[in-house]
Amino acid sequence: MKQVSLDGNPTPDKIKSFRRLEKKAASCRLCPSLADQPAVLSSANGSLNARIVFLAEAPGRFGAGRTGVPFQGDRSGDNFEILLKHIGLTRSEVFITNAVLCNPLENGNNRKPTAGEIKTCSGFLQNTLGIIQPRVVVTLGTVALQSLNKILGTRFSLKQNVAQSIPIQDFTLFPLYHPSPRVTNWKRPLVQQKKDFKKIPLS
Ligand code: URA
Repeated sequence: MKQVSLDGNPTPDKIKSFRRLEKKAASCRLCPSLADQPAVLSSANGSLNARIVFLAEAPGRFGAGRTGVPFQGDRSGDNFEILLKHIGLTRSEVFITNAVLCNPLENGNNRKPTAGEIKTCSGFLQNTLGIIQPRVVVTLGTVALQSLNKILGTRFSLKQNVAQSIPIQDFTLFPLYHPSPRVTNWKRPLVQQKKDFKKIPLS
């Protein structure tokens, strides 16, 4: 039985602040090589009253970069949906975002976001967390964890801190591996990731 629930509807102030941030992200052109890619930040990311925020790397070419919905439309998204369902949650109960809001491409293929792009986009992440005020932030993969490390001035690593509840000033940080096929095939199989997801503090 899942134990997570939403605290009613988001307040008008919360909605207003998020809309403002959404607009700002949509018109942001700070990263020269991402300027043509839409920022994936909208009500499709999930609930503004979510207790859990999932933070991943960046929209993928076939996933969020195409659908506008984080982790939807590609194989990483398929795996993420399996994992979310495994712990009895739906997209409408959580909020999903990325360290970098636009899809980084090189020669038409996905590439890792650069340190500069992560830094430039970190203001959007901080503002998003400030608006939602989640109880738990689950980072998915190294880039997501590094982006939070930079903001928090911490040095957590996936190797040492995977599936640990780490109390931070305003929330509990819970580092997990990324659900991409590259990771589930070579580093952290889906069966293990299901066990990791079960440890997320939901209440
Ligand atoms: N889709 C996302 O939204 N983020 C990722 O990190 C990968 C796929």
